[in-house]
Amino acid sequence: MAMAAPTPSASCCLVGPVPFNDVVGAEDDDRITPPEGYGHIISTLPTIGILGRFVHHQYQGAWLLHERIPGVLSFQRRFSPRPGDVLLTSPPKCGTTWLKAMAFATMGRAAYPPTAADHPLRRLNPHECVPFIDDLFSAGHDAKLEALPSPRLLSTHMQHSLLPASLAENPNAKIVYICREPKDMLVSMWHFANTIHPCHFSDLFESTPSGKSTDGPMWDHLLGYWRASKANPGRVLFLRYEEVLLNPVDSVIKLAQFLMVPFSAADEAVGLPADIVNLCSIKTMKGLQVNKTGASGLFYKFPHESYFRKGVTGDWVNHMTPEMAQRLDAIVEDKLYGSGLSFSS
Ligand code: A3P
Repeated sequence: MAMAAPTPSASCCLVGPVPFNDVVGAEDDDRITPPEGYGHIISTLPTIGILGRFVHHQYQGAWLLHERIPGVLSFQRRFSPRPGDVLLTSPPKCGTTWLKAMAFATMGRAAYPPTAADHPLRRLNPHECVPFIDDLFSAGHDAKLEALPSPRLLSTHMQHSLLPASLAENPNAKIVYICREPKDMLVSMWHFANTIHPCHFSDLFESTPSGKSTDGPMWDHLLGYWRASKANPGRVLFLRYEEVLLNPVDSVIKLAQFLMVPFSAADEAVGLPADIVNLCSIKTMKGLQVNKTGASGLFYKFPHESYFRKGVTGDWVNHMTPEMAQRLDAIVEDKLYGSGLSFSS
Protein backbone atom coordinates (compact mmCIF):
# COMPACT_ATOMS: atom_id res chain seq x y z
CA MET A 1 0.00 0.00 0.00
CA ALA A 2 1.32 3.49 -0.83
CA MET A 3 2.19 5.92 1.94
CA ALA A 4 0.10 9.05 2.30
CA ALA A 5 1.21 11.61 -0.26
CA PRO A 6 3.43 14.31 1.27
CA THR A 7 1.97 17.80 1.25
CA PRO A 8 3.21 19.99 -1.64
CA SER A 9 5.41 21.95 0.74
CA ALA A 10 7.04 18.75 1.99
CA SER A 11 7.53 17.21 -1.46
CA CYS A 12 9.17 20.37 -2.83
CA CYS A 13 11.95 19.93 -0.27
CA LEU A 14 12.66 16.31 -1.21
CA VAL A 15 15.50 15.31 -3.49
CA GLY A 16 14.77 12.62 -6.03
CA PRO A 17 14.45 9.99 -6.95
CA VAL A 18 11.55 9.53 -4.58
CA PRO A 19 9.20 6.55 -4.98
CA PHE A 20 6.48 7.67 -7.34
CA ASN A 21 3.68 6.21 -5.21
CA ASP A 22 4.93 7.98 -2.09
CA VAL A 23 4.72 11.34 -3.78
CA VAL A 24 1.47 11.06 -5.64
CA GLY A 25 -0.50 8.67 -3.46
CA ALA A 26 -2.61 5.94 -4.97
CA GLU A 27 -6.12 7.10 -4.23
CA ASP A 28 -7.10 7.85 -7.85
CA ASP A 29 -4.89 5.28 -9.55
CA ASP A 30 -7.77 3.64 -11.40
CA ARG A 31 -9.26 6.83 -12.78
CA ILE A 32 -8.61 6.96 -16.51
CA THR A 33 -9.25 10.19 -18.38
CA PRO A 34 -7.55 9.87 -21.78
CA PRO A 35 -6.31 13.10 -23.32
CA GLU A 36 -8.79 14.37 -25.90
CA GLY A 37 -8.35 15.57 -29.44
CA TYR A 38 -6.41 12.66 -30.93
CA GLY A 39 -9.33 10.54 -32.17
CA HIS A 40 -9.03 11.77 -35.75
CA ILE A 41 -5.34 10.80 -35.89
CA ILE A 42 -5.92 7.37 -34.34
CA SER A 43 -8.82 6.58 -36.68
CA THR A 44 -6.48 6.81 -39.70
CA LEU A 45 -3.82 4.44 -38.34
CA PRO A 46 -3.31 0.83 -39.52
CA THR A 47 -4.84 -1.56 -36.97
CA ILE A 48 -4.16 -5.18 -35.98
CA GLY A 49 -5.14 -7.48 -33.11
CA ILE A 50 -2.29 -9.34 -31.45
CA LEU A 51 -3.28 -12.70 -29.94
CA GLY A 52 -6.78 -11.97 -31.17
CA ARG A 53 -7.39 -9.56 -28.32
CA PHE A 54 -4.88 -6.74 -27.95
CA VAL A 55 -5.65 -4.01 -30.49
CA HIS A 56 -2.54 -2.24 -31.79
CA HIS A 57 -2.11 0.67 -34.20
CA GLN A 58 0.94 1.50 -36.23
CA TYR A 59 2.05 4.99 -35.38
CA GLN A 60 5.26 6.45 -36.80
CA GLY A 61 6.35 2.93 -37.72
CA ALA A 62 5.80 1.37 -34.27
CA TRP A 63 3.02 -1.02 -33.20
CA LEU A 64 1.45 0.45 -30.07
CA LEU A 65 -1.37 -0.79 -27.86
CA HIS A 66 -4.57 1.11 -28.65
CA GLU A 67 -4.92 2.34 -25.06
CA ARG A 68 -1.43 3.85 -25.08
CA ILE A 69 -1.64 5.87 -28.29
CA PRO A 70 -3.31 9.00 -26.86
CA GLY A 71 -0.63 9.03 -24.18
CA VAL A 72 2.19 8.70 -26.68
CA LEU A 73 0.77 11.56 -28.74
CA SER A 74 0.25 13.68 -25.66
CA PHE A 75 3.71 12.85 -24.27
CA GLN A 76 5.28 13.87 -27.59
CA ARG A 77 3.51 17.21 -27.52
CA ARG A 78 3.28 18.16 -23.87
CA PHE A 79 6.18 16.71 -21.90
CA SER A 80 8.16 19.33 -19.96
CA PRO A 81 11.68 18.08 -19.41
CA ARG A 82 13.76 19.06 -16.42
CA PRO A 83 17.55 19.06 -16.14
CA GLY A 84 18.59 15.80 -14.56
CA ASP A 85 15.66 13.71 -15.83
CA VAL A 86 16.64 10.07 -16.29
CA LEU A 87 14.61 7.92 -18.69
CA LEU A 88 14.80 4.12 -18.48
CA THR A 89 13.81 2.51 -21.77
CA SER A 90 13.39 -1.05 -23.01
CA PRO A 91 11.31 -3.29 -25.19
CA PRO A 92 8.81 -5.12 -22.97
CA LYS A 93 10.13 -8.21 -21.11
CA CYS A 94 13.80 -7.32 -21.35
CA GLY A 95 14.54 -6.51 -17.71
CA THR A 96 12.62 -3.25 -17.27
CA THR A 97 11.59 -4.08 -13.70
CA TRP A 98 15.14 -5.04 -12.79
CA LEU A 99 16.57 -1.86 -14.35
CA LYS A 100 14.02 0.24 -12.48
CA ALA A 101 15.10 -1.34 -9.21
CA MET A 102 18.84 -0.97 -9.89
CA ALA A 103 18.60 2.63 -11.10
CA PHE A 104 16.35 3.65 -8.21
CA ALA A 105 18.59 1.96 -5.63
CA THR A 106 21.75 3.41 -7.20
CA MET A 107 20.53 6.99 -7.54
CA GLY A 108 18.76 6.99 -4.18
CA ARG A 109 21.43 5.23 -2.13
CA ALA A 110 22.25 8.24 0.07
CA ALA A 111 18.64 8.60 1.24
CA TYR A 112 17.93 4.86 1.15
CA PRO A 113 20.87 2.60 2.04
CA PRO A 114 20.31 -0.67 0.16
CA THR A 115 20.61 -2.85 3.26
CA ALA A 116 18.05 -0.80 5.24
CA ALA A 117 15.01 -2.79 6.33
CA ASP A 118 12.75 0.10 5.33
CA HIS A 119 14.19 0.57 1.84
CA PRO A 120 11.32 1.60 -0.51
CA LEU A 121 12.00 -1.42 -2.74
CA ARG A 122 11.15 -3.69 0.20
CA ARG A 123 7.61 -2.29 0.42
CA LEU A 124 6.89 -1.15 -3.16
CA ASN A 125 7.11 -2.96 -6.48
CA PRO A 126 9.75 -1.28 -8.74
CA HIS A 127 6.95 -0.09 -11.05
CA GLU A 128 5.47 1.79 -8.09
CA CYS A 129 8.80 3.57 -7.61
CA VAL A 130 9.43 4.45 -11.27
CA PRO A 131 6.37 5.22 -13.44
CA PHE A 132 5.75 4.52 -17.12
CA ILE A 133 5.58 8.05 -18.41
CA ASP A 134 3.38 7.48 -21.48
CA ASP A 135 0.90 5.48 -19.37
CA LEU A 136 0.53 8.53 -17.14
CA PHE A 137 -0.20 10.67 -20.18
CA SER A 138 -2.62 8.02 -21.53
CA ALA A 139 -4.64 8.03 -18.33
CA GLY A 140 -4.57 11.79 -17.91
CA HIS A 141 -2.34 11.51 -14.83
CA ASP A 142 0.57 13.49 -16.29
CA ALA A 143 0.18 16.31 -13.76
CA LYS A 144 1.60 13.84 -11.24
CA LEU A 145 4.95 14.16 -12.98
CA GLU A 146 5.20 17.72 -11.77
CA ALA A 147 4.93 16.57 -8.15
CA LEU A 148 8.07 14.43 -8.45
CA PRO A 149 11.18 16.09 -7.07
CA SER A 150 14.27 16.22 -9.31
CA PRO A 151 16.07 14.27 -10.47
CA ARG A 152 13.08 12.37 -11.80
CA LEU A 153 13.44 8.71 -12.70
CA LEU A 154 10.96 7.82 -15.45
CA SER A 155 10.46 4.99 -17.92
CA THR A 156 8.92 4.01 -21.24
CA HIS A 157 8.80 1.16 -23.75
CA MET A 158 8.61 3.65 -26.63
CA GLN A 159 11.04 3.38 -29.53
CA HIS A 160 13.75 6.05 -29.66
CA SER A 161 12.25 7.62 -32.80
CA LEU A 162 8.99 8.23 -30.91
CA LEU A 163 10.53 10.10 -27.97
CA PRO A 164 9.83 13.82 -27.84
CA ALA A 165 12.82 15.79 -29.10
CA SER A 166 12.76 17.64 -25.78
CA LEU A 167 13.97 14.39 -24.23
CA ALA A 168 15.80 12.51 -27.00
CA GLU A 169 17.94 15.51 -27.92
CA ASN A 170 18.20 17.08 -24.49
CA PRO A 171 21.85 17.31 -23.40
CA ASN A 172 20.69 17.44 -19.78
CA ALA A 173 18.69 14.20 -19.87
CA LYS A 174 20.12 10.70 -19.65
CA ILE A 175 18.64 7.58 -21.23
CA VAL A 176 19.41 4.04 -20.06
CA TYR A 177 18.29 1.26 -22.40
CA ILE A 178 18.14 -2.45 -21.67
CA CYS A 179 17.51 -5.11 -24.29
CA ARG A 180 17.59 -8.86 -24.39
CA GLU A 181 18.20 -11.79 -26.70
CA PRO A 182 15.04 -11.73 -28.86
CA LYS A 183 14.03 -15.40 -28.43
CA ASP A 184 14.18 -15.13 -24.63
CA MET A 185 12.29 -11.87 -24.81
CA LEU A 186 9.52 -13.55 -26.81
CA VAL A 187 9.25 -16.45 -24.38
CA SER A 188 9.08 -14.04 -21.47
CA MET A 189 6.36 -12.05 -23.25
CA TRP A 190 4.32 -15.20 -23.80
CA HIS A 191 4.42 -16.15 -20.12
CA PHE A 192 3.50 -12.60 -19.16
CA ALA A 193 0.60 -12.37 -21.64
CA ASN A 194 -0.65 -15.72 -20.37
CA THR A 195 -1.22 -14.28 -16.92
CA ILE A 196 -4.12 -12.24 -18.28
CA HIS A 197 -4.92 -13.97 -21.60
CA PRO A 198 -4.17 -17.70 -22.02
CA CYS A 199 -2.77 -18.30 -25.50
CA HIS A 200 -0.54 -20.60 -27.56
CA PHE A 201 3.14 -19.74 -27.89
CA SER A 202 2.97 -20.31 -31.65
CA ASP A 203 0.35 -17.55 -32.00
CA LEU A 204 2.69 -14.97 -30.49
CA PHE A 205 5.66 -16.36 -32.38
CA GLU A 206 4.00 -16.16 -35.78
CA SER A 207 3.30 -12.43 -35.52
CA THR A 208 6.94 -11.60 -34.70
CA PRO A 209 8.78 -12.15 -38.02
CA SER A 210 6.57 -9.54 -39.67
CA GLY A 211 7.52 -7.04 -36.95
CA LYS A 212 4.02 -7.06 -35.48
CA SER A 213 4.80 -7.13 -31.78
CA THR A 214 4.03 -4.71 -28.97
CA ASP A 215 6.33 -1.69 -29.40
CA GLY A 216 7.89 -3.47 -32.36
CA PRO A 217 9.28 -4.14 -34.84
CA MET A 218 11.80 -5.31 -32.25
CA TRP A 219 14.75 -4.62 -34.58
CA ASP A 220 13.70 -0.99 -34.99
CA HIS A 221 13.50 -0.71 -31.21
CA LEU A 222 17.00 -2.14 -30.85
CA LEU A 223 18.55 -0.14 -33.66
CA GLY A 224 17.11 3.20 -32.56
CA TYR A 225 18.70 3.09 -29.13
CA TRP A 226 21.82 1.32 -30.40
CA ARG A 227 22.53 4.10 -32.89
CA ALA A 228 21.68 6.80 -30.34
CA SER A 229 24.12 5.24 -27.87
CA LYS A 230 26.85 5.18 -30.52
CA ALA A 231 26.18 8.78 -31.51
CA ASN A 232 25.89 10.05 -27.91
CA PRO A 233 27.51 7.62 -25.48
CA GLY A 234 27.33 10.19 -22.69
CA ARG A 235 23.56 10.54 -23.12
CA VAL A 236 22.44 6.99 -23.95
CA LEU A 237 23.70 3.90 -22.14
CA PHE A 238 22.99 0.62 -23.95
CA LEU A 239 22.75 -2.40 -21.64
CA ARG A 240 22.14 -6.04 -22.46
CA TYR A 241 20.23 -8.25 -20.02
CA GLU A 242 22.67 -11.13 -20.50
CA GLU A 243 25.68 -8.96 -19.65
CA VAL A 244 24.02 -7.56 -16.53
CA LEU A 245 23.18 -11.11 -15.43
CA LEU A 246 26.79 -12.16 -15.96
CA ASN A 247 28.40 -9.13 -14.28
CA PRO A 248 25.81 -7.45 -12.06
CA VAL A 249 28.25 -5.59 -9.82
CA ASP A 250 30.24 -4.19 -12.76
CA SER A 251 26.94 -3.23 -14.41
CA VAL A 252 25.78 -1.28 -11.36
CA ILE A 253 29.15 0.49 -11.19
CA LYS A 254 28.84 1.36 -14.89
CA LEU A 255 25.28 2.57 -14.38
CA ALA A 256 26.34 4.82 -11.49
CA GLN A 257 29.17 6.30 -13.54
CA PHE A 258 26.87 6.99 -16.47
CA LEU A 259 24.30 8.65 -14.20
CA MET A 260 27.07 10.80 -12.73
CA VAL A 261 26.69 9.34 -9.24
CA PRO A 262 29.84 7.17 -9.26
CA PHE A 263 30.76 4.97 -6.32
CA SER A 264 33.82 6.10 -4.38
CA ALA A 265 36.65 3.69 -3.67
CA ALA A 266 35.35 3.53 -0.10
CA ASP A 267 31.84 2.65 -1.36
CA GLU A 268 33.29 -0.18 -3.39
CA ALA A 269 35.49 -1.33 -0.53
CA VAL A 270 32.49 -1.75 1.77
CA GLY A 271 30.54 -3.52 -0.99
CA LEU A 272 27.87 -0.89 -1.69
CA PRO A 273 27.45 -1.91 -5.36
CA ALA A 274 27.08 -5.56 -4.28
CA ASP A 275 24.48 -4.56 -1.69
CA ILE A 276 22.46 -2.91 -4.46
CA VAL A 277 22.82 -6.02 -6.63
CA ASN A 278 21.57 -8.18 -3.75
CA LEU A 279 18.62 -5.94 -3.01
CA CYS A 280 17.59 -5.93 -6.68
CA SER A 281 18.25 -9.62 -7.35
CA ILE A 282 15.34 -11.72 -8.54
CA LYS A 283 15.72 -13.88 -5.44
CA THR A 284 15.28 -10.92 -3.07
CA MET A 285 12.55 -9.31 -5.15
CA LYS A 286 10.55 -12.53 -5.48
CA GLY A 287 10.70 -13.12 -1.75
CA LEU A 288 9.21 -9.75 -0.79
CA GLN A 289 5.60 -9.71 0.29
CA VAL A 290 4.83 -6.72 -1.93
CA ASN A 291 5.89 -8.71 -4.99
CA LYS A 292 4.00 -11.84 -4.00
CA THR A 293 0.70 -9.99 -3.78
CA GLY A 294 -1.10 -7.15 -5.49
CA ALA A 295 -1.13 -5.96 -9.06
CA SER A 296 -0.37 -2.76 -10.89
CA GLY A 297 -0.86 -1.19 -14.29
CA LEU A 298 -3.31 1.39 -15.53
CA PHE A 299 -4.92 -0.39 -18.46
CA TYR A 300 -4.20 -4.03 -17.68
CA LYS A 301 -3.63 -5.14 -14.09
CA PHE A 302 -0.65 -7.48 -14.07
CA PRO A 303 0.02 -9.32 -10.81
CA HIS A 304 3.27 -8.10 -9.24
CA GLU A 305 4.56 -11.65 -9.16
CA SER A 306 4.29 -11.89 -12.97
CA TYR A 307 7.25 -9.49 -13.30
CA PHE A 308 9.59 -12.01 -11.67
CA ARG A 309 9.67 -15.41 -13.33
CA LYS A 310 12.92 -17.31 -14.03
CA GLY A 311 15.37 -14.49 -14.74
CA VAL A 312 17.74 -16.69 -16.78
CA THR A 313 19.14 -16.81 -20.30
CA GLY A 314 18.32 -19.46 -22.87
CA ASP A 315 14.81 -20.39 -21.71
CA TRP A 316 13.74 -20.27 -25.37
CA VAL A 317 14.95 -23.87 -25.82
CA ASN A 318 11.99 -24.99 -23.72
CA HIS A 319 9.48 -23.37 -26.08
CA MET A 320 10.88 -23.21 -29.62
CA THR A 321 11.85 -25.88 -32.09
CA PRO A 322 15.33 -25.49 -33.65
CA GLU A 323 13.57 -24.46 -36.88
CA MET A 324 11.61 -21.68 -35.17
CA ALA A 325 14.80 -20.46 -33.51
CA GLN A 326 16.71 -20.48 -36.78
CA ARG A 327 13.94 -18.59 -38.52
CA LEU A 328 13.80 -15.83 -35.92
CA ASP A 329 17.60 -15.62 -35.60
CA ALA A 330 17.94 -15.21 -39.37
CA ILE A 331 15.38 -12.40 -39.51
CA VAL A 332 16.88 -10.53 -36.56
CA GLU A 333 20.45 -10.85 -37.82
CA ASP A 334 19.38 -9.71 -41.28
CA LYS A 335 17.66 -6.63 -39.85
CA LEU A 336 20.65 -5.79 -37.63
CA TYR A 337 23.21 -6.49 -40.36
CA GLY A 338 25.89 -3.83 -40.65
CA SER A 339 24.90 -2.05 -37.43
CA GLY A 340 27.54 -3.64 -35.20
CA LEU A 341 24.78 -5.06 -32.97
CA SER A 342 24.29 -8.82 -33.02
CA PHE A 343 22.76 -11.56 -30.90
CA SER A 344 24.48 -14.49 -32.61
CA SER A 345 27.10 -16.11 -30.39
P1 A3P B 1 11.68 -14.21 -17.63
O1 A3P B 1 10.22 -14.22 -17.96
O2 A3P B 1 12.52 -14.74 -18.75
O3 A3P B 1 11.99 -14.87 -16.35
P2 A3P B 1 10.32 -6.83 -17.70
O4 A3P B 1 10.71 -6.35 -16.37
O5 A3P B 1 10.85 -5.99 -18.82
O6 A3P B 1 8.86 -7.10 -17.79
O7 A3P B 1 11.06 -8.22 -17.93
C1 A3P B 1 10.69 -9.36 -17.19
C2 A3P B 1 11.80 -10.38 -17.27
O8 A3P B 1 12.89 -9.94 -16.42
C3 A3P B 1 11.36 -11.73 -16.74
O9 A3P B 1 12.13 -12.69 -17.45
C4 A3P B 1 11.77 -11.65 -15.28
O10 A3P B 1 11.88 -12.89 -14.64
C5 A3P B 1 13.10 -10.93 -15.42
N1 A3P B 1 13.51 -10.27 -14.18
C6 A3P B 1 12.75 -9.52 -13.36
N2 A3P B 1 13.46 -9.11 -12.30
C7 A3P B 1 14.71 -9.61 -12.46
C8 A3P B 1 15.89 -9.54 -11.68
N3 A3P B 1 15.92 -8.89 -10.54
N4 A3P B 1 16.98 -10.17 -12.15
C9 A3P B 1 16.95 -10.84 -13.32
N5 A3P B 1 15.86 -10.95 -14.10
C10 A3P B 1 14.75 -10.34 -13.67
